[in-house]
Amino acid sequence: MNFLWTLVNVLAVLGVCCVEADEVSVFVMKGDSVTLYTDVDANLQNKMRWYFNDHQITEIIGDRRETCSDHECKWTFRGELKLDNQTGSLTITNLRTKQSGLYEIKIINSDSVGSKIFNVSVHDVPERDEMIRKSVKEGESVALELGEERKTKELLLYFSGILIAKITRDQSTICGNDQCNERFRDRLKLDHQTGSLIITNVRTTDSGRYRLQINGSSFSIHRTLTVLTVIAVPDSGWSSAAVAGIVVGVVLSLTAAVAAVFIYVARRKRKNNHDSVNRGQQGNHLQNLSTDQPATPIITPEGNASNENANRNHVEH
Ligand SMILES: *[C@@H]1O[C@H](CO)[C@@H](O)[C@H](O)[C@H]1NC(C)=O
Ligand SMILES: *[C@@H]1O[C@H](CO)[C@@H](O)[C@H](O)[C@H]1NC(C)=O
Ligand SMILES: *[C@@H]1O[C@H](CO)[C@@H](O)[C@H](O)[C@H]1NC(C)=O
Repeated sequence: MNFLWTLVNVLAVLGVCCVEADEVSVFVMKGDSVTLYTDVDANLQNKMRWYFNDHQITEIIGDRRETCSDHECKWTFRGELKLDNQTGSLTITNLRTKQSGLYEIKIINSDSVGSKIFNVSVHDVPERDEMIRKSVKEGESVALELGEERKTKELLLYFSGILIAKITRDQSTICGNDQCNERFRDRLKLDHQTGSLIITNVRTTDSGRYRLQINGSSFSIHRTLTVLTVIAVPDSGWSSAAVAGIVVGVVLSLTAAVAAVFIYVARRKRKNNHDSVNRGQQGNHLQNLSTDQPATPIITPEGNASNENANRNHVEH
C-alpha cells in the first residue's frame, strides 16, 4: 500500500501522472467554513488521502476513515476537520489564518490515479465580528451586503435554516418557498445596484443570524453574513387617544409635584421667620435686663439663675 502512495508521489513529481491537478483558488474569511469537493465516490475501490502543505491529514481506505492521526495535524486543526463518508470531501470549520495553504487530494482507484489542489487563502478582516452586527428599530429597513462573490458565484442566503434567497449572475429567486413567505412575505428585495438584499419593515422575529453559502464549482463556503438585532418599539401600536391620556396624566402629576414643592418652601419660610422673631424677642428681653429696667421674673430655676447673672452684670457696669 505504502509503495503505491510513494509511486504516486514520485510520478507526480516527475509530472507523469495526475494531469488534472489544476489549482483551485479559494478565498475565504476568518471564521468561515469551507468544503472542498473530491467529485468522486469514495467506494471500496477508492483510496484517498488529503494533504495540507504536503503533510498528510486524512486517509480513506475502504470503509476506514482517519482524520488528524498525528500531533501536528491536531495542533493545526483542533478537531475542525470533517470528512464526508460518501465522497471523501473535506470540510474545515471556523477557519483560521494558519490554515491557509495548499490542500491536495490524491485518489487511487482500480484503474487510475488522480489529484486535485486547492489553494485556500484565509483573510483576517479586523473588526469583522463587529461589522457584521447590525441593529435596527422595528419597522425600519436593513440592507444585507452580499459581497463581491455575487459577481462570480452562486449565493444562497439562509435565515434560521430557511432558504430566503438564491442569487446567481443571471437569475435570482427571492423567497421562493412557503417557509420564507410565512416570515418575510413581500418584505425582501434585491437591490441590483448595490448588490444588497433589503429587508423592509423589519420585525423583532427577524433578529438572528443570516448565513451565506457561496457555491464554487468544486468548493462551497459557509459564512455568517449578518447578525441582526431588531429593537422593539413599545409605543408603535398605541392610539393617539391613549397617548393624549398619558400626556394629560404626566402634566397633572407634574403640576401636583410643583405645587407640593411650593407649599413646602412656603411652610419652611414661615417657620424660619417665626423662629427668628422668637430669637429676636429673647435678645430684646436680655437687653432690657441690662438697661436697668424692671425685669419680668422668669419662673424657671435656670431663669432665676440667669436673672441673678444678669443682675450681677448690671452691678459691674
Ligand atoms: C459515516 O461514518 C460514521 C463513522 O465512521 C458512521 O457512524 C456512519 O454510519 C457513516 N455514515 C454513512 C452514511 O456511511
Ligand atoms: C496561493 O494563493 C495565494 C493568494 O492568491 C498566492 O499568493 C500564492 O502564491 C498561491 N500559492 C500557490 C502555491 O500557488
Ligand atoms: C450549490 O448548493 C446547492 C444547495 O446546497 C446544491 O444543491 C448545489 O448542487 C450546489 N451547486 C454547486 C455548483 O456546487
